[in-house]
Amino acid sequence: MAQAIRPLALVTGASTGIGLELAKQAAQHGYDLLIAADEPAIEAAATELRAMGVNVDAVQADLSTTEGVDRMLEALRGRDVEALLANAGRGLGKGFLDEDFDRARQVVDTNVTGTIYLIHRVGRAMRARNAGKILITGSIAGFMPGSFQAVYNGTKSFLNSFSFAIRDELKETNITVTCLMPGPTETEFFERADLMDTSVGQGKKDDAGMVARVGFEAMLKGEGDVVAGWKNKVQSAIANVLPAGVTAALHRGMAEPGSGKQ
Ligand SMILES: NC(=O)c1ccc[n+]([C@@H]2O[C@H](COP(=O)([O-])OP(=O)(O)OC[C@H]3O[C@@H](n4cnc5c(N)ncnc54)[C@H](OP(=O)(O)O)[C@@H]3O)[C@@H](O)[C@H]2O)c1
Repeated sequence: MAQAIRPLALVTGASTGIGLELAKQAAQHGYDLLIAADEPAIEAAATELRAMGVNVDAVQADLSTTEGVDRMLEALRGRDVEALLANAGRGLGKGFLDEDFDRARQVVDTNVTGTIYLIHRVGRAMRARNAGKILITGSIAGFMPGSFQAVYNGTKSFLNSFSFAIRDELKETNITVTCLMPGPTETEFFERADLMDTSVGQGKKDDAGMVARVGFEAMLKGEGDVVAGWKNKVQSAIANVLPAGVTAALHRGMAEPGSGKQ
């Protein structure tokens, strides 16, 4: 019997954390997958996802570079992307002047440049077909100046804004753009960003599976944005009305090195 053709979802940063959970959501909803990340762990993720009964192609590529994004897109082999989940991202803690500049640049290149290049390429193909869903992983961090995470919060502020801007530009089309804005979530993010001695690094976090489910459902409904978790909803509503100087000071309390109890 001929196999039904499933729609294809492209998920970046799918080796761990929120991205792996988004890829599981896509598999559960009947999508085949193209997944990508920078390290070999993407192959283990592909094996796990194939066990869910869908076709999975995995690409190891540095998505902070246009070459890496191009290489990932070659793996499409002409297939249409029905759902683009632009999730790959990195954080970086410590005071800006104490950060290694190459790492800071990698945060900008991954979270902003690589992400918008990917959306530019896939988005044009979606526009030509007048169909497609885009989910961008922003963050509630984008609502506040991130003392001791200054570059990271700036990139997420960019993505939150960018997402709503292109959503509006595409409002006459059948393409939807949704911004998933998680709060602190249990993933490898904090360890990788050198934030384990901070209050936010040591604090209670949301489950990545819950965050991904909320984001995926919002994408399917074509909603503009979704903040995962009621506590984060309250926090982001407050951050939207407080002066930036006040939210920066609040962020210091969460992210200053040594602010953790242990
Ligand atoms: N955890 C949170 O509290 C939180 C809150 C709000 C928003 N977010 C956002 O959620 C997204 C996923 O983060 P996470 O929390 O799930 O952290 P994570 O477990 O560290 O996952 C990050 C993913 O992005 C990939 N990635 C990072 N840089 C890459 C690059 N240059 N090229 C290709 N892949 C790259 C990683 O793959 P490699 O290991 O191969 O590099 C990994 O698959 C990020 O955009 C993050 O900013 C996280």
